[in-house]
Amino acid sequence: MNQTSPQAPCPVIAVQDLAKKYAGKRVVDGLSFSVSAGEIFAFLGPNGAGKTTTIKMLTTLLPPDEGRILMNGIDLATDPMEARRHFGVVFQDCTLDPAMTVQENLWMHCAFYRIPRARRPERIAHVLALFALTDRRDSIVSTLSGGLKRRVEIARALLHQPALIFLDEPTLGLDPQSRRVLWDHLQLLQAHHGTTIFLTSHYLDEVERYAQSVAVIKKGRIVTQGAVAAIISHTAHASLEDSFLSLTAEDGAADDETAG
Ligand SMILES: Nc1ncnc2c1ncn2[C@@H]1O[C@H](COP(=O)(O)OP(=O)(O)OP(=O)(O)O)[C@@H](O)[C@H]1O
Ligand SMILES: [Mg+2]
Repeated sequence: MNQTSPQAPCPVIAVQDLAKKYAGKRVVDGLSFSVSAGEIFAFLGPNGAGKTTTIKMLTTLLPPDEGRILMNGIDLATDPMEARRHFGVVFQDCTLDPAMTVQENLWMHCAFYRIPRARRPERIAHVLALFALTDRRDSIVSTLSGGLKRRVEIARALLHQPALIFLDEPTLGLDPQSRRVLWDHLQLLQAHHGTTIFLTSHYLDEVERYAQSVAVIKKGRIVTQGAVAAIISHTAHASLEDSFLSLTAEDGAADDETAG
């Protein structure tokens, strides 16, 4: 047998020609990209570029109009229930029940994922420890800071032990300390559990520091994708933010857009 290199991994996510229309407008317009196992992959683009719409399609909440999504080789169109067991997701807006405790929120999610009752205490204890939340388990969610709520949401998304997690702007609105703590936890998750992390962010300094791969989209189309260092060097800029700004600049109109 002709063995190739020991690492010939099937991508965790393979997207081909993905498209979605809203009111006749293609807000996702033929995206193709792949995400490798164990990487932090940042999906970048200006406001309205189509990031959240794409995440909704990748997480089976929204059916694509065109294209194909394979997750660990499973076709989302034909087997969405099986695919859902492979990922966890945290949306931009908090979906915790603010009147319940941290632990109660996690318990409810276990029920949603049909994790057997006998296993729930151990799973809950594990994700609480992962995100340094054990001493907060009896806190009412509404009393927690924004950074702690985010950590609870990510911990909740890991209860069914997915190898892939989607995070839509996980550090949005958090102070620098909370953002650092969150990134520390995400890095530990990647290092110790090999979790693949797919995220969107407008904080490009963070992405440059922590992500291995990025795809940049503009108006629903990929403008570039690859390793962070390669994108910076191809665009001959000093930072990912500068590369991003040049890649996503409006044609013919330098940055003279004024807020309405
Ligand atoms: N339910 C909807 N109905 C109609 N248009 C929508 C809907 N959801 C999103 N859009 C439009 O689709 C486009 C892409 O939106 P999307 O939320 O995917 O962008 P985004 O890249 O996540 O932006 P942001 O950085 O602001 O979060 C935008 O023009 C938006 O107004
Ligand atoms: Mg969005």
